[in-house]
Amino acid sequence: MIGGTGLEHVELKDLQNRTVSTPYGDVTVDIGRLGEDKPLMVFMSRHGKGHTVPPHGVNYRANIWALKELGVKKIVATAAVGSLSTRFKLGDIILVDQFLDFTKSRPQTFYEGGEQGVLHVDMTEPYCRSVQKVIQEAAKNIQLEVKTGAVYVCTEGPRFETPAEIKMYQILGGECVGMTSVPEVVLAKELGMCYATIGLVTNEAAGIADHPLTHEEVIENMKVTGKTVAELLPEIFRLFRPEQDCRCPLGNAEAGKF
Ligand code: HPA
Repeated sequence: MIGGTGLEHVELKDLQNRTVSTPYGDVTVDIGRLGEDKPLMVFMSRHGKGHTVPPHGVNYRANIWALKELGVKKIVATAAVGSLSTRFKLGDIILVDQFLDFTKSRPQTFYEGGEQGVLHVDMTEPYCRSVQKVIQEAAKNIQLEVKTGAVYVCTEGPRFETPAEIKMYQILGGECVGMTSVPEVVLAKELGMCYATIGLVTNEAAGIADHPLTHEEVIENMKVTGKTVAELLPEIFRLFRPEQDCRCPLGNAEAGKF
């Protein structure tokens, strides 16, 4: 699991810390169980335990490489999002289905040419349908509503958007906005891993909200929604099976690497 804003920490049984060396730098993760009878999982805090790493400063390649190195096949990520759509209200839990990429300065690929080869990874289904199905089933089991099919706009940040930008994103079909899903989802696909994002609606986007946005507002609202997600996670991991019964492991087959 990759925990985003407000989910910097989860309580794990049999907890161990592991530092993994990658070509992009070292990454430290927690390994443990979300309950005594639950399977082993890896927990990674995207912004660091004390939320010290901004979205544009996250070492996405090191993080995803480290998960691959640890044998992870399926990633559930959480992401705080602003809502651009009347479909998504404050406190809603949503499953992201597509993205619009407005990032500007992030390494986007493991395939840099030369020895690493070239891969134009398919993004027809960026977020794993099979993992999304498990999340939906888990939510149903604990009577939690999860809204599906969200189009996520990924901005560079760290600033929030202008109302004019939000209007543009709405015209383009964006429904929620955040700063981290790209390139995380792309890199997971490049290494043949399943990846799904649970979006937690922390605010109405700029210009829709009737007040200026603050990071504090996002954090405060995450505290409430984060608790609900903390109940959902053990059920997701209980339902997970090791097999990847989807197209994700074929994501990098063309390159024949990694
Ligand atoms: N914009 C960008 N990222 C965000 C927002 C937002 O309104 N809310 C939470 N993450």
